[in-house]
Amino acid sequence: MAPAASYSDGLMRLRVFSDAANLADAAAEELAAWSRHDLAYPTIGLAGGNTPRLAYDRLRRLRLPWDRVHAWVTDERAVPLDHPESNSGMIRQTLFDHVPGSFHPVSWSEDAAAAAAAYENELTRFLPAGPGGMQPGLVVLGVGEDGHTASLFPETAALEETRRGFVANWVPHLAAWRLTATLPLLIAARRVVFLVSGRHKADIVAEVLEGDTDLPAAIVSRETRDPAWLLDRDAAAGLGAA
Ligand code: 6PG
Repeated sequence: MAPAASYSDGLMRLRVFSDAANLADAAAEELAAWSRHDLAYPTIGLAGGNTPRLAYDRLRRLRLPWDRVHAWVTDERAVPLDHPESNSGMIRQTLFDHVPGSFHPVSWSEDAAAAAAAYENELTRFLPAGPGGMQPGLVVLGVGEDGHTASLFPETAALEETRRGFVANWVPHLAAWRLTATLPLLIAARRVVFLVSGRHKADIVAEVLEGDTDLPAAIVSRETRDPAWLLDRDAAAGLGAA
C-alpha cells in the first residue's frame, strides 16, 4: 500500500497510489491513525461519493477506538435516510451498521434551512469549540469534476457564508437543495484529507493543485491547516510533480 509517489511542501501532503483500491486502503489507515490519536474523542467528518465510500468499506475492517469516535456527514442531498442517494444512508450502510462508533446522520426535512440549522445544532453537541467556532478533527472530502467539495458547488450561495458551519445550498444546475458544511467549518478542521480517483478527475486535480483558482476544493485546500491529497495515478496524471 506504499504510495507510488509522495510529496510535501509544508503546505500540503500529496500521496499518489497505483489504483483506487490502494488509495482506499491508505485513506482508511489515515482515518484509523487519526482516531487512535490521544484525543479526548476523535471526530471524523465524512463526505459522500464513490471514492470516499471505498475507503469507508476498508475502514470497517480496521481496529479503531470506535467507542470514542464521533462521525458526522459533510453534506447531504434532499432525500430521506433510506433513499439510495442519501450520503448518511451510504455511510451508515457501509460503516456504522458494522462498527460501534457514534454516527450523526443528517435528517432531511422539506424545510432545507431548518434541516441545516438542526444539523448545525447537532454538530455543536460533539465538535469541540475552536478559536473561531466549532473545530472538526479529521474531515474526508471528495472532489467533483467541477471543483466542488462537500456540496459547495462553484458559484453557489453557500460559498458566501462566513459565520454558520452548516447551511442549505440551492444548486441551480441540479435544481435541488443540498445541505453542506461551509467553508468556515471545513477550513477550521485540524486535518482535511481529499480522496480523488479516476482519469476523469485529472484535469480538475491539476487545476486545483497547480492552477490559480478559487474553486471550492482549492479554497479549502489552500486555507485549512493540514491538507492532504490522496490520489490514484489516473487522477494525478495531469500533475507536473506526480
Ligand atoms: C456528494 C459528495 C461529493 C463527492 C464528490 C466526489 O454528496 O456527492 O459529498 O462532494 O464527494 O462529488 O464524488 P466521487 O468520488 O464519487 O467522484
